[in-house]
Amino acid sequence: MSQMKHIDNIPSTPGKFKEKSPYNRLRLHFSLTKLTFWSFVFLGLIFVFFFRSPSSSSSSPAASDLSRRSLRTSSYDGPAWEKRIKASAKVRSHSGISVLVTGAAGFVGTHVSAALKRRGDGVVGLDNFNDYYDPTLKRARQALLERVGVYIVEGDINDVALLKKLFDIVQFSHVMHLAAQAGVRYAMENPGSYVHSNIAGLVNVLEVCKNANPQPAIVWASSSSVYGLNTKVPFSEKDRTDQPASLYAATKKAGEEIAHTYNHIYGLSLTGLRFFTVYGPWGRPDMAYFFFTRDILKGKSIPIFEAANHGTVARDFTYIDDIVKGCLAALDTGEKSTGSGGKKKGPAQLRVFNLGNTSPVPVSDLVSILERLLKVKAKRSVMKLPRNGDVQFTHANISFAKRELGYKPTTDLQTGLKKFVRWYLSYYGDGKKSVQ
Ligand SMILES: NC(=O)c1ccc[n+]([C@@H]2O[C@H](COP(=O)([O-])OP(=O)(O)OC[C@H]3O[C@@H](n4cnc5c(N)ncnc54)[C@H](O)[C@@H]3O)[C@@H](O)[C@H]2O)c1
Repeated sequence: MSQMKHIDNIPSTPGKFKEKSPYNRLRLHFSLTKLTFWSFVFLGLIFVFFFRSPSSSSSSPAASDLSRRSLRTSSYDGPAWEKRIKASAKVRSHSGISVLVTGAAGFVGTHVSAALKRRGDGVVGLDNFNDYYDPTLKRARQALLERVGVYIVEGDINDVALLKKLFDIVQFSHVMHLAAQAGVRYAMENPGSYVHSNIAGLVNVLEVCKNANPQPAIVWASSSSVYGLNTKVPFSEKDRTDQPASLYAATKKAGEEIAHTYNHIYGLSLTGLRFFTVYGPWGRPDMAYFFFTRDILKGKSIPIFEAANHGTVARDFTYIDDIVKGCLAALDTGEKSTGSGGKKKGPAQLRVFNLGNTSPVPVSDLVSILERLLKVKAKRSVMKLPRNGDVQFTHANISFAKRELGYKPTTDLQTGLKKFVRWYLSYYGDGKKSVQ
């Protein structure tokens, strides 16, 4: 220590050093050590800058920060990879469109991707295969899509460099943005995942679309949950949506406002779809109709919520095929975006539609239908609706979607559940195979 103190006391002006002094030798040695150290730091910084930073053209600091965070998770590049993307994006019909579907390994994304491909559109999927629910189900959906010629790129919507790369490879005319953190109750466990996917992720998708040339038209999934504590029924697009009952709902509502901004400033054509409790084959294991089926088959009791004063909890259950028709109609009627070079050139289309079934069914009736289809009596456990995000009922007014999209749901709950149960039993066997 005393030696260190000594070194510190040596004058710092080089001219004052005496070459031969032992102090000088010590100083020289120490400087060399320092020099080597700082050289390593400098080289390290260069390495980090060139090899870890996102594409240098990421426009905003926020975007570059997000992409840097997520670049670690994506695996891409290479001619074989690009070839698969181009093959998947190939448009095969005269009036076909070219669509990037985010959340393609998800429930709705899989059905929409398959339907687009069937009618001759070019489709490229994007999904991060997160484990919010059993990823093997997502992998099975991926295999299903592969069989019909849809390739799903594995990556995060926050990965700006990846999204830009996809737009370099394919001139997408449309984006069907379905990737999101879904579920109402999970927000209390992992609130950050909602902000990451539903807010930051949405902004990234819009940023990349805004800079694309030509800009695509975007259709994206909002949710009936934006109606929150609204009590006026049926829910109309004109009703208030400023009382979300969950963080999930709040992020979807924020998404609608963000969409407004990108439409207003950059001329992006944007259509938000407020889905009402979608169900059907290849559905989501976190949704009641799905885990009720599993638990009824396992002989486990199922919670049936009721509101205050024994109030009925009801949902406007909407069958997946009807939702798919609504999504395709929204894509087909989506006008071109008007911006170029990141600048708005004229007013662009901005729409929000309810996609529901317009016939709410009490959750206890849903259970009765499942009992009949499964031929098993459910063990019902009636309990109070907890105040953790779920609302008492949902009911869609769909007249706007009917007029503008020709949307007309045709599947009632009994028919739709029959198809779901048939799929469930063929996928999971007799229900003994476990669903995580
Ligand atoms: N199913 C419904 O009843 C319903 C109702 C209202 C709204 N929605 C909305 O519809 C859309 C589709 O819902 P779903 O039921 O198919 O849900 P889902 O969870 O099955 O599908 C979403 C997919 O997005 C992926 N994903 C999530 N975050 C991602 C990210 N950051 N980057 C890349 N991929 C990511 C997931 O891995 C998943 O495969 C969602 O936006 C959801 O909020 C669904």
